[in-house]
Amino acid sequence: MLERVDYDVRQHAVYSAGRALPEGSARLWSAVFARWAGAPNPLTVLDLGSGTGRFTPILADTFGGQVYGVEPAGRMREQAAPHPRVEYLAGSAEAIPLPDQACDVVLLFLVFHHVVDRPRAVAEIRRVLRPGGRVLIRSAFSDRMPDLLWHRFFPGARDVEQRMFPTVAEVTGLFEDAGLAVLGLDRIRETVATDLAAYAERLRLRAISTFEHLTEEEIRRGFAALDLAVAAGDIQVPVTMDSDLLVLGDS
Ligand SMILES: C[S@@+](CC[C@H](N)C(=O)[O-])C[C@H]1O[C@@H](n2cnc3c(N)ncnc32)[C@H](O)[C@@H]1O
Repeated sequence: MLERVDYDVRQHAVYSAGRALPEGSARLWSAVFARWAGAPNPLTVLDLGSGTGRFTPILADTFGGQVYGVEPAGRMREQAAPHPRVEYLAGSAEAIPLPDQACDVVLLFLVFHHVVDRPRAVAEIRRVLRPGGRVLIRSAFSDRMPDLLWHRFFPGARDVEQRMFPTVAEVTGLFEDAGLAVLGLDRIRETVATDLAAYAERLRLRAISTFEHLTEEEIRRGFAALDLAVAAGDIQVPVTMDSDLLVLGDS
């Protein structure tokens, strides 16, 4: 396993700027979440690994109920935007500070691959989930990695992510052992940039934990190649990104 990335060390300083949701993404993800876990409204939601709260207020608006943002990194959590129906709590997937059957929906958005003790985390998710509830896992999976533009310039990043992300079977096996079944696996395409120079500048903040596993030389070479491609204007816009949403619940 790769060394764990602690978001309190560097990522917290760049995450909000480097991972701000592109235009249209909030609406897109809200619709995706509602499609898989929509009715009845209101629903109580746990945003597990809520980071800087990119999605937490969106979940409150989408599902109309109470939302808990649970996040281990204090420097990420302290940046999260307030919302009248959102409560941010210190905790982790392995130790969720909520009572049994407190939530209708549990979202892990780019979080599951960071979790060290996955069996314990799945038992905790199962514990806080109400009967009939849904678990939404937005992740990449090493056995169905999408083709990502930035990987073309940082080939080492693809190798790192191949090791970083679990397979679909590894994740579904853990949840099936806990009594939850796969309800769907959705491939989502979002537009991440219409302006390549702005895309490159954002990437330069390195607000993707994969960068923490690359050497400075790999990073230097990657940005040099990206800058050349931007100057040549030979990358097609808009830049899109594919990602997966795995949905689990009672069978
Ligand atoms: C890529 S960020 C995603 C944050 C947020 N979900 C988003 O999409 O903006 C990953 C987050 O997972 C958190 N994390 C790492 N290990 C965790 C764990 N064991 N339980 C819950 N969250 C964890 C990190 O601190 C970080 O804030």
